[in-house]
Amino acid sequence: MGAATKLRVGLCLAAFCLFAPLPAAAQDASARAEATEAQMTDDERVTLTLGHLATAIPGRPAPPEGSRPGAGFIPGIPRLGVPALYETDASLGVTWIGGARGSGGTQLPSGTAQGATWNVELIERGGRMIGSEARAKGFNVMLAGGINLMRDPRNGRTFEYLSEDPLLAGLLGGAAVRGIQSNNVISTLKHFAINPQETGRAFMNTVIAEDALRESDLLAFEIAIEEGDPGSIMCAYNATNGAQSCGNHFLLTEVLREDWDYQGFVMSDWGAVDGVDYALAGLDQQSGSQIDPQQFFGEPLKALAGSDMNYGNRLGEMVRRVLWAIYDNGLDRHPAAMGTVDAAANSEVALNVAHEGIVLLANDGGILPLGPDVKRIAVIGGHADAGTMVGGGSSKVLGDQGPSVSVPSNRDGAAAFGAMLDQDFNRSAPLAAIRAAAPGATVRFRDGQYASDAALAASQADIAIVFATQYQTEGFDVPDLSLPNGQDALIAAVAAANPNTIVVLQTGGPVAMPWKDRVKAVVEAWYPGARGGEAIADVLFGKVNPSGRLPISFPQSEAQLPRPKLDGIDTVEPNFTGVGPPGQKLDVSYDIEGSDLGYRWYARQGTQPLFPMGHGLSYTSFAHDGLTVVRKGEGLVARFAVRNTGQRAGADVPQVYLADAAGKPLRRLAGFTKLALAPGEVRQVEVPLEWRVIAEWEGEGWRVAPGRYRFVLAHDALADGPSAEIDLPDRRIPK
Ligand code: BGC
Repeated sequence: MGAATKLRVGLCLAAFCLFAPLPAAAQDASARAEATEAQMTDDERVTLTLGHLATAIPGRPAPPEGSRPGAGFIPGIPRLGVPALYETDASLGVTWIGGARGSGGTQLPSGTAQGATWNVELIERGGRMIGSEARAKGFNVMLAGGINLMRDPRNGRTFEYLSEDPLLAGLLGGAAVRGIQSNNVISTLKHFAINPQETGRAFMNTVIAEDALRESDLLAFEIAIEEGDPGSIMCAYNATNGAQSCGNHFLLTEVLREDWDYQGFVMSDWGAVDGVDYALAGLDQQSGSQIDPQQFFGEPLKALAGSDMNYGNRLGEMVRRVLWAIYDNGLDRHPAAMGTVDAAANSEVALNVAHEGIVLLANDGGILPLGPDVKRIAVIGGHADAGTMVGGGSSKVLGDQGPSVSVPSNRDGAAAFGAMLDQDFNRSAPLAAIRAAAPGATVRFRDGQYASDAALAASQADIAIVFATQYQTEGFDVPDLSLPNGQDALIAAVAAANPNTIVVLQTGGPVAMPWKDRVKAVVEAWYPGARGGEAIADVLFGKVNPSGRLPISFPQSEAQLPRPKLDGIDTVEPNFTGVGPPGQKLDVSYDIEGSDLGYRWYARQGTQPLFPMGHGLSYTSFAHDGLTVVRKGEGLVARFAVRNTGQRAGADVPQVYLADAAGKPLRRLAGFTKLALAPGEVRQVEVPLEWRVIAEWEGEGWRVAPGRYRFVLAHDALADGPSAEIDLPDRRIPK
């Protein structure tokens, strides 16, 4: 399907829209789905539309017989050879679910870290790895593929997502899905379609004009679907323009099915269904139905299907879509079964992602990498003696031994969700890795609880490394961009005591840095995964030359954001489910920035954030030149040269931004690549440019207005660099 859609888009771009036939495998899946569905009774049909929780939740009906501890379960239909669906979260690996399965999983670095790699091939490899673990643990559906655009850095799920940019999020999200599905495991893109904050998440209403939505959040999904061909899509908890996302006809039927011709099925998020009529809007499967007010897609749907043609027709279609995803991904031919996991090989993949995802934000005087001459190092804070931080909620992955440190959550209502919300650290300790990397140095650790004690240790060292953390979890936004628990003051105190202070951040997303000019280096390690401690030490000591680039802009402060105050922070009592008292409403306008979120907002406002998207330093330097933009086939490509002008091998991420569209100044990422270069090496590069980034959505489709288009080849989203122009004719691309 993805390839077909791509081909269709290609043909549409030729200014007229021909529809290419579906590829043979997808056609075969459609024909088989039709044949199987025709033989079913209505009881069997609703078996496939009703999902069940697969772990026990206090006060809710127990998981059905035959389920495996995970996120969800849908019984199969053995007489027709239809396999049961065993669902596990999520994008960072097979989740821990409080240890209920008796084993853990290999933890990929957070989504933000994955986004920071800007490496499509590596993210596909990560998907292949976690998909293989899902399969080996008996699952055949992964609720992975979180690609919501990071519209607000305070969103508690920022760490699960990939970028603020639709092209980067779409290409990487599609690659992750492709990797997962190479294991005969269905993957899911989520949370369709605009899901920017956790506060009031069950009822908050995102208000945004259609053209802006098409050019931003929807574009990320559109690209990821084309690239990854996911078997399923999960709709979001919140409402969009007045209708709950899982009952939203515009999103689920008009856009996804009619405009994009998506063949797979839409599952609800857990607890997001309020009525059987969601089926008519385009929802195909009710997930974890024990936590909804009713099991709507069981008996109630069956009864309506028998008496109302609309429901009858929809039920058949819903079932065919689920079957299509099963057949298209070969779930019937490769039954889910327990297998073995190559933990050592898998953790190498996690390590590679961490190496490429760590971003060197600042490095004054080239203090990094640390050399063999460093004799006394003070390591401070962040539980660096124990492990690296892990994000909270349904996506939490831990290794077989569980957390090394677990700070219990004191959130209201947290008891019911227990281990999901606790602030956990894995077992990859940066302190041990630093000691191993600097065998000749004295390395002392202070936990950072007392600034005076930390400052004293720092004053007696050549180098002070402060590990600072910001915990993010599903269900709760962070109220502001400070580092919690007095860590900003801790850093300031250490920096005052030692001029050679380095800060290593483990944060879900952007934080403010009031101490930035007082420290020498800042390393953003995000939540760096199963071998995060080692990855951090490798970057600090130069075993790895950092090549991460920010996938999201860091504002100077909340005042620079489109919404300086997080909507609902003062009216909604935070709780994990995001459900409020009956009738509570929260409309949040995203028309303020429209499709110009993140760096596009700063470009439009003419303001300079702390660090724009795309920023990231290296231990070497790169030069770009000779940019040209030319037509190739139906599209445009950028061609240029990249040279490693420094003394070390390293990888660069040249980024091509649209800077002027027919007289309108703007900034939009149109293409990028990542390449490794030896010192002095020069490489000619060709990068395809995404048409839908160059176009605008105008009511009935995309339009490229006639005129001159200028592109800039830059090191980050707001930087200058070589530029090139091309004249483009008027072109309308119907939806
Ligand atoms: C999350 C989803 C997750 C689901 C199943 C929900 O709380 O929003 O992302 O896949 O739970 O665990």
